[in-house]
Amino acid sequence: MSHYTGNPDAIAALVRDNEVHRDVYTSPEVFALEMRHLWRSSWIYVGHDSQVPDAGDYVTTQVGLEPVVMIRDRDGEVKVLLNRCAHKGAKVVTEPSGHVQSILRCPYHGWSFHFDGSLRLIPLQNGYENTGFDSACAAGGMVRVRHVAVYRGFVFVRLSDTGPEFHDYFGDSLSSIDNMADRSPEGRLEIAGGVLRYMHDCNWKMFIENLNDTMHPMVAHHSSAGTARDLWYSQQHPEGTKKPMVVEQFEPFVSNYEFFDNMGVRIYPNGHSFTGVHFSIHSAYSEVPGYHEALRAAYGEEKTAQILATNRHNTVYYPSLTIKGAIQAIRVARPIAVNRTVIESWTFRLAGTSDELLKRTLMYSRLINAPTSVVGHDDLTCYRGIQEGLAASGNDWVSLHRGFDPAREQHIAGDYNGTNEVSMRGQFRAWRDRMVESMQAEVHT
Ligand code: FES
Ligand SMILES: [Fe+2]
Repeated sequence: MSHYTGNPDAIAALVRDNEVHRDVYTSPEVFALEMRHLWRSSWIYVGHDSQVPDAGDYVTTQVGLEPVVMIRDRDGEVKVLLNRCAHKGAKVVTEPSGHVQSILRCPYHGWSFHFDGSLRLIPLQNGYENTGFDSACAAGGMVRVRHVAVYRGFVFVRLSDTGPEFHDYFGDSLSSIDNMADRSPEGRLEIAGGVLRYMHDCNWKMFIENLNDTMHPMVAHHSSAGTARDLWYSQQHPEGTKKPMVVEQFEPFVSNYEFFDNMGVRIYPNGHSFTGVHFSIHSAYSEVPGYHEALRAAYGEEKTAQILATNRHNTVYYPSLTIKGAIQAIRVARPIAVNRTVIESWTFRLAGTSDELLKRTLMYSRLINAPTSVVGHDDLTCYRGIQEGLAASGNDWVSLHRGFDPAREQHIAGDYNGTNEVSMRGQFRAWRDRMVESMQAEVHT
């Protein structure tokens, strides 16, 4: 059955102002269309330029379902190539990350490419004389992604030639990346260590929606974070005992509804948003010795106060990247299939700071985001439950009504109370607009 392919009206009808059709999560056909339209015409996070400091350093990943390699070229620029040999299509780079001395060489027949993807050498090249090869796509080498933007080290690409420009697409939401980088006295972030990666048996949107879902922590995380909190407070501690970092990090997850409501959520156009307009679960962390002084020395009193007062919870860079500036951790959604999504969790070091801050981030990543996390599995179990539950008939629609105000949401951008489901409505509005625009563009070409 192909009900949705080539039918932008049918796609548009899946999204209402305050609810969405279950097919957006369960239909393999809709998933295929998302990969072709939404994920190609939006700006997708590839990696951080600190992962490839020197010429020849590379990392491989996927943008939607397309394999890419991000490599530092000799001119110092970060290039992103589609990881497909110009010959018969083999993946040229097979490792997750590494370094090559001078060329990229295909492991199958040995065609080699410069770091910008252009063809360098074919074994027994004279076999191609007068074959029409010179005018073929293959002669261009590996396809280089033309639309690449690097913002404070964060590398994004747009695969499609149509779609919004980078700054129009993200707008002021980039202030969350600014805050994360500004937390370094040098204004610089560096990826620290490798990636924590785990498979989620759910559609990618369940994860992305969850990041600004403030109605779930006190319920879904009660058994993990709530137990940790209760254990700490049920014990006697000698006067003046410092609360361990682990308790500091667990405890806010089981804050009450009022806390999350007052936190606030800010909505930007194109599906981006963050919770924690006024404060967040990261606001009450204890001070790391020497850190504030280092910031003051770099930025002065006023700017330092501003940087430290910004403690956003999760910022969603729709559809692929979510960041936590206050704790220097990011999570990236890599869709695999309609019901399979790899979630990557990366940790950053703030350049010019002591190991204490990195330790805090590492602890957070282990506790909350790692495959071994006790908190992450609360969410994962719920996402899997949704994926299975949505197989039920009798109600085709998923409710996003909470806090819906049709008059106000004509222009959805702005600040709302934190328990409002407006971030999800904003995401689906963006989803529908990008899908329909891209599908229509395809019909007309
Ligand atoms: S497939 Fe790469 S050289 Fe043949
Ligand atoms: Fe959660």
